[in-house]
Amino acid sequence: MTGKQTLTIIKPGAVSHEYIGPILAMINEAGFHIAAMKYFRLTPIQARSFYSVHKEKTFFNSLIEFMTSGPVVVAILEKENAVLDYRKLIGATDPTKAEEGTIRKMFAESIERNAVHGSDSDANATRECYFFFSRSERFSMFDTIP
Ligand code: CMP
Repeated sequence: MTGKQTLTIIKPGAVSHEYIGPILAMINEAGFHIAAMKYFRLTPIQARSFYSVHKEKTFFNSLIEFMTSGPVVVAILEKENAVLDYRKLIGATDPTKAEEGTIRKMFAESIERNAVHGSDSDANATRECYFFFSRSERFSMFDTIP
């Protein structure tokens, strides 16, 4: 599936501000196919495992508290060049550095409460997509992706 899938999370802050619809509309308009989707509240164990690469960071505990504070939307997005194209659509991690018109510029509150997550590499996209979705929950438009 290299290059064709990425994982997004619409984070609790954006969900509580009723931004699910506008964010999904931007994703749709940018040409992504939604191959899988869930709406639920992450458990602390899930959040800690998902963000384990950041476990030594000073912001880790605060990030886990935020990510488990309310429901999230998790989705697998598909198109050619999905990881890079989605990172362009969402903008920089820090919304003060994000370009005009990007999802984070429009909907993020801070570097932590930054509206959405997007996979940062094809390897992480694969890990993250399998982290949240079983085979029977994924509906790829690409014949080559199981
Ligand atoms: P995300 O793309 O989900 O990946 C890791 C998350 O950690 C990031 O978005 C932010 O929510 C958070 N994060 C990254 N850097 C910082 C920081 N300097 N301070 C607080 N939170 C951060």
